[in-house]
Amino acid sequence: MKLSFRVNRREVTVATATDRRLIDLLREDLGLTGTKEGCGEGECGACTILLDGQAVNSCLIYASQISGKSVTTIEGLATENLHPLQRAFIEKGAIQCGFCTPGFIMSAYALLAKHVDPSEDQIRWELSGNLCRCTGYTKIIAAVRYAAKLLRE
Ligand code: FES
Ligand code: FES
Repeated sequence: MKLSFRVNRREVTVATATDRRLIDLLREDLGLTGTKEGCGEGECGACTILLDGQAVNSCLIYASQISGKSVTTIEGLATENLHPLQRAFIEKGAIQCGFCTPGFIMSAYALLAKHVDPSEDQIRWELSGNLCRCTGYTKIIAAVRYAAKLLRE
């Protein structure tokens, strides 16, 4: 099928199979390798992207589901400078191997778009679909709270 959609504010048209996974389309066809594949079955959240503003697992989305829609990946967050979430994860030490980080940041981005000052419980709930094997979650939660503060300022 010929598929047109927006990715990171850019219109793209690609030829692809209808059952191609969005994560493969992004990483292999469009070179957007910031999105990571962990489990490949909707359990780890490493592949989280935004689809029309909603955080979703790109390993579970087929190409046929994104026609005309808007996709945002980790590459789409920074403009001239890093996004406050990216800065916060670095400054708060919320990254070790970094494999889970793009997924956490995309989930946190969706949360902060809805709640400018989320509670710790809200953050834990919204990030409950993202797994990190390295850091534990304390620094990640602190980074999201700090990013929320940066964004409010
Ligand atoms: S790679 Fe998609 S949820 Fe784990
Ligand atoms: S920083 Fe390594 S899995 Fe999260």
